[in-house]
Amino acid sequence: MSENLVYLNGEYVPANEAKISIFDGAISLGMTVTESTRTFAHQPYRLRDHINRLFLSLKAARFDAGMTADELEQLTLEVWKKNEPNYAPGTDAWIIHNVTPGTWVPSSGQKPAESKPTVMIVTLPLDLSYWADFYRVGCHAVTPFTRIQPAQSLDARIKNRSRFLYTLAESEVKLIDPMAQSLLLDTDGFLSENKGGNFFLVTSNSIRTPSTINCLDGISRQTIFLLAEQLDLPIEECRLLPYDVITADEAFFTSTPYSIMPATKFNGTKIGDGQVGPITKKLLAAWSEMVGVDLLKQAQSD
Ligand SMILES: Cc1ncc(COP(=O)(O)O)c(C=O)c1O
Repeated sequence: MSENLVYLNGEYVPANEAKISIFDGAISLGMTVTESTRTFAHQPYRLRDHINRLFLSLKAARFDAGMTADELEQLTLEVWKKNEPNYAPGTDAWIIHNVTPGTWVPSSGQKPAESKPTVMIVTLPLDLSYWADFYRVGCHAVTPFTRIQPAQSLDARIKNRSRFLYTLAESEVKLIDPMAQSLLLDTDGFLSENKGGNFFLVTSNSIRTPSTINCLDGISRQTIFLLAEQLDLPIEECRLLPYDVITADEAFFTSTPYSIMPATKFNGTKIGDGQVGPITKKLLAAWSEMVGVDLLKQAQSD
């Protein structure tokens, strides 16, 4: 096995030797724009869509990566090419991008003129074992008392590494049930998202999901819209309340690592009959077929 190499500011370095300054804006300001892509059968999935979202996040955050989206895509494929031989057939990888404004100590509030962005590209083995049982029996979605920040404060579409809020929310729901998954509400009480995933409901064969007013425009979420269209399932974005979860037939989360995570319980109440429902199963099967990887089997083999 060869060393895991990461890209850091123009160089390929072994992951355990990659270092950034303690004065980097990532640390001094908590300002990191990020992306997480995964591979399916070693092929990066929708990499360009992730990179395009990264560039939108950077534009909204008002700093840049010091390179074009084409250049970042090429560098990303290069990092993956270098590390891919470490991945056995049947296993897959995360591909993580972190971009910061570079050195920025918040004295005057102004970014120093000489500051250059810090750009990191990292690949890591994707361990899906945590989610394996959820594909079969579903997870318990629980609403924490921490609410998602309003878009007027920090737009949820800016995918960033400030995970304080989400981590607090997740630790709150784990007090209720150690395996619970957070389903955050916004400050008006509407459903938003999970610490790392979007949320969907199925009621009378129709799919509903919160709009991106209060959640990330997930790439997996976009895939659900695509699959729903292919499967001829009605799907819409709308405002949703806890009542809608309690009265739904099925529910699931979506996110890059696990794609679809069924939810069969909400705040202690069964969703539908408490089993993973037929529409969720249909979507899981369609996703597996689309990427040529059986999602459940892969998670169970980890
Ligand atoms: C807060 C949040 N919501 C939703 C998602 C799901 O997005 P994607 O499907 O692009 O992984 C993520 C992914 O990390 C996230 O961090």
